[in-house]
Amino acid sequence: MTHRSGRHFLQIPGPTNVPDRVLRAMDMPTMDHRGPEFGVLGREILDGLREVFQTRQSVIIYPASGTGAWEAALANTMSPGDRVLMCETGQFATLWHRMATRLGLATEFIPTDWRRGADAAAIEARLREDRDHAIKAVCVVHNETSTGCTSRIALVRRAIDAAKHPALLLVDTISSLASIDYRHDEWGVDVTVAGSQKGLMLPPGLSFNAVSDKALAASQSARTPRSYWSWDEMLAANKSGYFPYTPATNLLYGLREALAMLREEGLQNVFARHDCHAEATRRAVRAWGLEILCAVPEEYSSSLTAVMVPAGHDADHVRKVILDKFDMSLGTGLGKVAGKVFRIGHLGDFNDLTLMGTLAGVEMGLELAGVPHRKAGVRAAMDYLAECAAQPTRKAA
Ligand SMILES: Cc1ncc(COP(=O)(O)O)c(C=O)c1O
Repeated sequence: MTHRSGRHFLQIPGPTNVPDRVLRAMDMPTMDHRGPEFGVLGREILDGLREVFQTRQSVIIYPASGTGAWEAALANTMSPGDRVLMCETGQFATLWHRMATRLGLATEFIPTDWRRGADAAAIEARLREDRDHAIKAVCVVHNETSTGCTSRIALVRRAIDAAKHPALLLVDTISSLASIDYRHDEWGVDVTVAGSQKGLMLPPGLSFNAVSDKALAASQSARTPRSYWSWDEMLAANKSGYFPYTPATNLLYGLREALAMLREEGLQNVFARHDCHAEATRRAVRAWGLEILCAVPEEYSSSLTAVMVPAGHDADHVRKVILDKFDMSLGTGLGKVAGKVFRIGHLGDFNDLTLMGTLAGVEMGLELAGVPHRKAGVRAAMDYLAECAAQPTRKAA
């Protein structure tokens, strides 16, 4: 392979670019995970994570990718044969649904056209019908990474309450945590699933469950066999900052640094930055004359935008041209939208000029791939970013 100068643009919607500060923090000798220093690190991280989940309850860290934390959420709270209500918002919801079925749960899947978030009214209607409370959990992907639609979890919470239903609420925030406002306690979420490799700006390899007291109580009687994923041993060891098995020590050094960076910027500013970059991206897409996959403006994702290519064009060809010519990776279309969309990730360690480089690469790529468009997207995004930058505290206009 020939050498390519400059930095590769990794603009997939995760894993995201790891900031130099985090890389340097991980560049450390391996530590004794049963020694005194580790307990201090463990406690510091577990406390810091609570701020990011906006919770006072427990957060658990697994040395696993996000899929592991999905399994942990289900295995700790459910028993074989339990009924779970899931929402088909896209490919990741589909994979979580498949996992629940494999774990022996009786799944129901509320469909969508993959252009919107979870349908709170449909959830409410189904829960009202369920008079015997056979449904034990409602599972929603907060930010559907395959479509760029963000479900409104506060509305889902309201729907469950309106139906006076005791089901647990399980939410996947793998591509929203630390990018899009998310409130575990305020929204009454019972298990929040998250991963290290997106808003938290770390390499892949850590995942999380934030756990409500109600979910903990449910775990006492849940009968799905589990061992590695079991919350009880983990929580017992975490009290003193330790883990029941070998933690991913160097990733935890990185996590400590990432939490410090988020605290320095301020979570609200982090969210506003993502909102602003997402809106600038959408303005570019509209100015190109292309369509955004998400059809509901209130559900536009602030961490990624899925862009539809016109009929007769292949989104993967556009991505290939952009990778070959400009050394930039964009997200591929997954599942039902394969070949029809490409996804621009604008989350994590990202600023105005990285966005402009990204959008310039896309605009040039559209030209080279022969996709009809107006050459006005970069201009539209720049104008919007300049507006955002002119505000004393940055907010999406
Ligand atoms: C929303 C969502 N859920 C689940 C996953 C699966 O996580 P992982 O690939 O880390 O196992 C992903 C991965 O991108 C995701 O975006």
